[in-house]
Amino acid sequence: MMKDFNFYAPTRVVFGRESEKLIGNLVKEYGGHHVLVHYGGGSAERSGLLNVVRQQLKDAGLDVTELGGVVPNPLLSKVYEGIGLGRKSQIDFILAVGGGSVIDSAKAIGYGIPYDGDVWDFWDGKSKPATCLPIGVVLTIPAAGSEMSSSCVITKDEGLLKRGVNSDLCRCKFAVMNPERTYTLPAYQTAAGATDIMMHTMERYFTKYEDMSLTDAIAEALLRTVMDSAKIVMKEPQNYRHRAQIMWAGSLAHNDLTECGTEKDFATHKLEHELSALFGVTHGAGLAALWPSWARYVKAKHLSRFVQFAVNVMGVTNDFAHPEETAEQGILAIERFYREIGMPTNIRELLGREITKEEIDTLVDKCSRGGTITIGAMEVLGAKEMRDIYEMAKLGALPYSFFSVGSDRWYLTARKRIRQVTRNEDITVTSIGSCKASNPQ
Ligand code: NZQ
Ligand code: ZN
Repeated sequence: MMKDFNFYAPTRVVFGRESEKLIGNLVKEYGGHHVLVHYGGGSAERSGLLNVVRQQLKDAGLDVTELGGVVPNPLLSKVYEGIGLGRKSQIDFILAVGGGSVIDSAKAIGYGIPYDGDVWDFWDGKSKPATCLPIGVVLTIPAAGSEMSSSCVITKDEGLLKRGVNSDLCRCKFAVMNPERTYTLPAYQTAAGATDIMMHTMERYFTKYEDMSLTDAIAEALLRTVMDSAKIVMKEPQNYRHRAQIMWAGSLAHNDLTECGTEKDFATHKLEHELSALFGVTHGAGLAALWPSWARYVKAKHLSRFVQFAVNVMGVTNDFAHPEETAEQGILAIERFYREIGMPTNIRELLGREITKEEIDTLVDKCSRGGTITIGAMEVLGAKEMRDIYEMAKLGALPYSFFSVGSDRWYLTARKRIRQVTRNEDITVTSIGSCKASNPQ
C-alpha cells in the first residue's frame, strides 16, 4: 500500500560557485534588517567565508550582530545565549554559516526569541512552537540536511539530553550552497556527512510501504551517487563535480522527497542521538556504527526490502534461492563501504574502546525515556530491542576491524593484534576477514 503524503519544501536553494555573493539581497528579500550571523568553532573564519558574508551584508546596508562558538551536537546553553543577544539587539533574521549544528542552533534561537517561556519546553513536549524568526543558511558541510529539513536537534547540557523537534515553521527561507566551500572539510567529516546523507534516505527506504517505485528509484539513485562521489572526494577533496553531487544529495535526502508514499523509521537515528549525546561522537559516524546491527536485527521480517537494497543499491547479485544470503551480502557491502571511507561499523571502532554494560544501560534508559516510549516504524522497538541492538553493535559482526583515533592516525586491529599504521598507508580490505596495508611500519 502507498501512503498518502503532503510534500512541502519551501526552502529556496541557491547553488553554485560564488553563490555567497547573493546573500545580502536574499536576506533583504526575506525581510531581514538586523541579522544575527551564527557560526561554529572557527572553520568559517579560517576559510575566509565569514569575511565574505560580513562584506555582503555590509554592502547590502544591513545591521549585523555575530554569535560564534556553536559546537557539534549543539548545546542549549548556546541557544539561550543567542536568544538573549537576539532580543537585546532586536534582530529580525538569523543567518547560519555552517552545518547542521549551527543551523539547528539558529533554528532554536529563532523559536526562542518570540517565545515567552523556556525554549526547551518544545523539546520537553510541554509546548509546541507557534512561530520562528526567518532563517537563512550558508552551508559548509553536506550532512545533516537541516538546510531543508523541518527538524531541529539540540542537546540540553544538563543530563546531556539530545532531542529533536519537527515543525515546518523552522524551514529555512534560503540555503546558499557553494560546493567549493566544502573543500576544506576534514576527511572524517566528509565521510560522516556522506553516511548521514545516506542514512536519511535509508531511514525512509526501509519501510512497510512498498508500492512507491518512483520514490524507491530516487532513493536508490541518491544512495548510489553519494557512495560513488564519496569515494572520489576522499581522494580528491577539491573535485567540484563530486562535492556538488554530495551537497545536493544532502538536501534531497532530508527534505522529505524520499519519504513521498513511504514512512520515516528513524530508529537508527534515535539510537545514535544517545551515542553522540553521551560520548560527543560525530553523528554520521555513530550511525555507521549502529546501522548494520539494526539491519541484521530486523531483516528477517522485511527480507524483500533488504534484498532490493542489496541488489539495486549495493550491486549484489540476487541469489533467488537464498534471499537471506542476498540481504546479508547487502549489509556486508555497506560495511565494506563504511570501512573504505574510514567510518566505523561497530561501537568499539567508534569509541576506540569497548562500551561498558553501565553505559548501555544509560543509552537504553535515555532512548526509551525510562521504558516509556518506543522508536521506529518499519519495526517498532522498545527498551529490550534497543538493548539487543546496542549489544549487537558493541563489536559488530565482522571478525576484524580498523578504526581511526583522532584526526591523523589509523589503527588496525586483527583479533588480538593491534598495530599502528599511518593515515597515508594504503589500507585495502581484500576480503571479509583479512586486510592488507602496504608499507606497514
Ligand atoms: O565548528 P566548525 O569550526 O565550523 O567545524 C565544523 C565541525 O567541527 C566542521 N566544519 C563544517 N564545515 C566545515 C568544517 N570544517 C572545515 N571546513 C568546512 N567547510 O565540521 C564539524 C561538524 O559540523 P556539524 O555542523 O556538527 O556537522 P553536521 O552538519 O553533521 O551536523 C551535525 C548535527 O546535526 C544534527 C546531528 O545530530 C548533529 O547534532 N542533525 C540534524 C538534523 C536536522 N536538523 O535535520 C538531522 C540529522 O539527522 C542530525 O541529527
Ligand atoms: Zn542524521
